[in-house]
Amino acid sequence: MTLVREIDYGTPQSKAEKTVTLTIDGVEITVPEGTSVMRAAMEMGTQIPKLCATDMLESFGSCRLCLIEIEGRNGTPASCTTPVADGMVVHTQTERLKRLRKGVMELYISEHPLDCLTCSANGDCELQDMAGAVGLREVRYGYDGARHPDPGLDASNPYFAFEPSKCIVCSRCIRACEEVQGTFALTIAGRGFGSVVSPSQEQPFFDSECVSCGACVQACPTATLNEKSVIEIGTPEHSVVTTCAYCGVGCSFKAEMRGPELVRMVPWKDGKANRGHSCIKGRFAFGYATHKDRILKPMIRAKITDPWREVSWDEAIGYAASEFKRIQAKYGIGSIGGITSSRCTNEETFLVQKLVRAGFGNNNVDTCARVCHSPTGYGLKTTFGTSAGTQDFDSVEQADVILIIGANPTDGHPVFASRMKKRLIEGAKLIVVDPRRIDLVRTPHIEADYHLPLKPGTNVAVLTALAHVIVTEGLIDEAFIRERCDFDEFQDWAAFVALPRHSPEEVEKVSGVPAEAIRGAARLYATGGNGAIYYGLGVTEHSQGSTTVMAIANLAMATGNIGRPGVGVNPLRGQNNVQGSCDMGSFPHEMPGYRHVSEDATRAMFEALWGRPLEAEPGLRIPNMIDAALDGSFKGIYIQGEDILQSDPNTQHMAAGLAAMECVVVQDLFLVETANYAHVFLPGSTFLEKNGTFTNAERRIQMVRKVMAPLNGYEDWEITQKLSNALGYDMHYTHPSEIMDEIARLTPTFTGVSFAKIEELGSVQWPCNEKAPDGTPIMHIGGFVRGKGKFVITEYVATDEKSGPRYPLLLTTGRILTQYNVGAQTRRTANVDWHKEDVLEIHPFDAENRGIRDGDWVKLSSRAGETALKAEITERVAPGVVYTTFHHPNTQVNVVTTEFSDWATNCPEYKVTAVQVMPSNGPSEWQEEYEELTRQTRRIAAPLVAAE
Ligand code: SF4
Ligand code: SF4
Ligand code: SF4
Ligand code: FES
Repeated sequence: MTLVREIDYGTPQSKAEKTVTLTIDGVEITVPEGTSVMRAAMEMGTQIPKLCATDMLESFGSCRLCLIEIEGRNGTPASCTTPVADGMVVHTQTERLKRLRKGVMELYISEHPLDCLTCSANGDCELQDMAGAVGLREVRYGYDGARHPDPGLDASNPYFAFEPSKCIVCSRCIRACEEVQGTFALTIAGRGFGSVVSPSQEQPFFDSECVSCGACVQACPTATLNEKSVIEIGTPEHSVVTTCAYCGVGCSFKAEMRGPELVRMVPWKDGKANRGHSCIKGRFAFGYATHKDRILKPMIRAKITDPWREVSWDEAIGYAASEFKRIQAKYGIGSIGGITSSRCTNEETFLVQKLVRAGFGNNNVDTCARVCHSPTGYGLKTTFGTSAGTQDFDSVEQADVILIIGANPTDGHPVFASRMKKRLIEGAKLIVVDPRRIDLVRTPHIEADYHLPLKPGTNVAVLTALAHVIVTEGLIDEAFIRERCDFDEFQDWAAFVALPRHSPEEVEKVSGVPAEAIRGAARLYATGGNGAIYYGLGVTEHSQGSTTVMAIANLAMATGNIGRPGVGVNPLRGQNNVQGSCDMGSFPHEMPGYRHVSEDATRAMFEALWGRPLEAEPGLRIPNMIDAALDGSFKGIYIQGEDILQSDPNTQHMAAGLAAMECVVVQDLFLVETANYAHVFLPGSTFLEKNGTFTNAERRIQMVRKVMAPLNGYEDWEITQKLSNALGYDMHYTHPSEIMDEIARLTPTFTGVSFAKIEELGSVQWPCNEKAPDGTPIMHIGGFVRGKGKFVITEYVATDEKSGPRYPLLLTTGRILTQYNVGAQTRRTANVDWHKEDVLEIHPFDAENRGIRDGDWVKLSSRAGETALKAEITERVAPGVVYTTFHHPNTQVNVVTTEFSDWATNCPEYKVTAVQVMPSNGPSEWQEEYEELTRQTRRIAAPLVAAE
């Protein structure tokens, strides 16, 4: 293996269709109009020396190293800022150019510290490379020339250092922060020779607006901005391209290694989801993989009050299998089940559901999508015919109006948010529907045209009011509807939304959103050009989650905003492989490919290959499993990579259900909260230690490649296979590619997918089959998958969870940039420096009424339970609404969330809980008890020392 170095073409690719032909150094080349001479030269293999240019950024023309001569033109223009022209004749290497470039380099080197041998970028420094490229052999001005001002080393960021003495003021970092990340955290302070790069108002990086995306570090041609891991370990020597395991954006990275040690994760420019960009999590937060908390040996115990006992893999697997068999013999076939992980690969997820259906002999399999995007599956399948988003991420580049509802992309899906910001800065309009003033409402160079700060739980009312305006003001796309949708259903829907009770003026009374804002937003979405809707868990995690998804689909169909680039309905998926885990048949009612278990032909196909009869009745969902455990009919569970105790609602109910089971098997990286109730712990492997595929929010299937050997000994699919074999259901896969081949044989939307195809194309978006051999970037072009698009009546039904005298505030929850889901991974990285604890956001008005000051401990209580955390007083939330995150187990905010859920899918209503907030002295009684329980249940018995 070698270190893969991507070619830097110097300037971005031109998207023009028209081409021009020119001659460079005697060779004719044809390139798209608008290409720079620098890029054209690089495309034919000629690298013109450069310092301030890089193909991730627009050209800037400041270093004057890339000079060229053009026949018929005076002077020596910069090739990075000179566009090609038909018939142009260019020379890149003349005596005059050589002399000029040497002169430029002499000036740079004369004021640069010459500590190359001890510099962390030695061998990976463009300044060093360019000195070699121009043939610099002496510096007439000496090596101790005047220096730019040096404010001193800034090591405040845990992941990268800023050493201004090495800065050549090329501005690549500043432009990367603006153009790629869209944060504008860097400026040049001072003027002329006294100029120096500075974060925000000359602050340390950690205290500035910087969000640690790493774009500036990647752009810096010197060691001025450098990863601390490179400084500590040294430059990497080989690399493996793989896919981020954090969120549903699915960024591609080069995992750069030195021997077995991971030095850094560098975003991969050919990654079609991220196009060379990253966020703090994927870029820097990988240290959990080698954290001392990782459990690497299997463990068992008879009771959860016993300490854990480390055992061999065979003993642990044998014990789990014998317990599952014993339970089934005593309590029946349906008394056990499994939970797949949206963090694991498609192949691993497929195997767990296969184990449950064929090995356990029931359909008791579910996944974390139950608690996040199950309404997306239901809603989009009902209206369009496919349980997935309609667009690729590139589509946003052609959106004219972006409507974001119930999503916070800059925190939840940061790399896609940067692409969205780029489009917004170019001039696209923005509508935000969210109870909170998320960052995108107002951020540098972006201001939402409309922010509809609705009361939590009123999504359906507001969306129906938007539809009311569109229908009653004649803003529908009738031609599209007549051609593509069921027109009778449309007419019923149009009559429904036109009712006076759905007018913005009426809806203002329940939602709190000014009628004029609803009217304005509706007109903008319907008439502003390409309208693209992006949504998140603020849509799905409600008692009307599925209804809201269908209301969104109605809006897109009514305005013709579906079936082409720039438009569509786009669920922003939470976990890295939540799309894949749903595709792979993780739900109790659906086989892989979203086919109902009651379909005889589907079952027959699986039965023929799997050699076992399959159950035709849907199995238990996670909440049903817990209820059944409390009823005494569900006794055993196999949980792969999912911390249901922390992530699912009503923690005390969940804890009681787990405690009632006789065999809980947890397969994970750490002793997560659910493991407090486990009898068997099977150590899992990280994404760095396995091969397989993830599917991102665009339906894009991408390779996960093994970067290092599994520290626990096995990839997760191998562990599932061992368990299956111990249960007597034989599996004999030797590589995950064989599992994907089986998926392709059994799933019509995957028939063209194979590891070889993904390797060949880089990635594949399903459906990928005979009709679409290279995959499907945009769905429903020319017709909906279900035939005619289906308009669904979306009656607003207020949630039963209402604020009242006892619980007068509404709690809504979400996540922040630096932490991920239950935090098991990110809490074991330096990301905790940004977010050490969950805090409760509360409006100044509500805080003052309760005598709460910023930073005070407060008790957060609901009818389900209570917890305590610190208050943060902010106007990001409206009066009457409080907000917190759920990343820290010592807060366990799901202690207060309730059992209410989406009517169609049981997705919990996390986003609306009636609560009271009162001053408190510190952690609640429950928190103290839980801490003690955790201490007790995580004890590991000292290994027995064998007698010599
Ligand atoms: S790390 Fe990202 S956000 Fe921070 S200064 Fe660099 S480019 Fe800007
Ligand atoms: S810090 Fe690096 S990228 Fe930024 S101006 Fe200095 S040398 Fe250029
Ligand atoms: S945006 Fe998501 S996929 Fe991309 S680096 Fe960040 S966490 Fe990973
Ligand atoms: S690379 Fe063209 S001016 Fe710097």
